[in-house]
Amino acid sequence: MASKKNPKCAEYRVDAAVPSDAADLAMTDIAAFAPWFGDGPPTDSEIEKATQSYRANLKRGAYVAVVRDSGGRAVGLIEAGGSKGSSWAIGTVAVHPDHRGRNLGGMLLAEAEREARKRGLSVITLSTMNRYRGMVLTAFKAGFDVYNASYDGSRGDYRLLMVKDLRLKGV
Ligand SMILES: CC(C)(COP(=O)(O)OP(=O)(O)OC[C@H]1O[C@@H](n2cnc3c(N)ncnc32)[C@H](O)[C@@H]1OP(=O)(O)O)[C@@H](O)C(=O)NCCC(=O)NCCS
Repeated sequence: MASKKNPKCAEYRVDAAVPSDAADLAMTDIAAFAPWFGDGPPTDSEIEKATQSYRANLKRGAYVAVVRDSGGRAVGLIEAGGSKGSSWAIGTVAVHPDHRGRNLGGMLLAEAEREARKRGLSVITLSTMNRYRGMVLTAFKAGFDVYNASYDGSRGDYRLLMVKDLRLKGV
């Protein structure tokens, strides 16, 4: 999927994840969140645990879309599920740090939105924290608004519930 805005995105494409992507998804996830959770390089057992978790989710049919580089490797991912009525909740969103700033996060949110519309859903929600500034900015750019902000004392940060209402025009 090429982006008109950024020709660099011509080398990337978005599609559905398959169980054989599990190891790449685990590495992308770990690398993306390393600034907050990383305490040195991940151990083999942490990588294996994350890989197994992604593989199990994919095998049970969970929605995971990926962005692949020119070699077909998954370098970004988005999860969604837990639909309540007409609303769909986005889970993990991650782009490998080596591939940031190329609108891949925007492409992943657009793909989840396309899938939500296909399923006849009208609201997408995204729960995040203020510290995930790249996520907040990417979501704003994709048409999400902050619906609720509450201070989470255990994390020392604001939890933001961001929402995109697909019924609104011009979003
Ligand atoms: C959030 C994340 C997926 C964004 O990926 P990305 O591919 O770099 O984002 P994009 O290139 O699509 O950026 C979309 C817009 O947001 C802006 N943006 C994204 N991250 C930004 C940052 N850290 N600082 C400033 N602007 C940022 C971009 O500049 C772009 O706006 P522009 O089109 O006006 O330039 C990525 O930063 C990431 O993996 N973060 C760590 C994991 C995370 O926080 N996940 C969410 C937890 S709930």
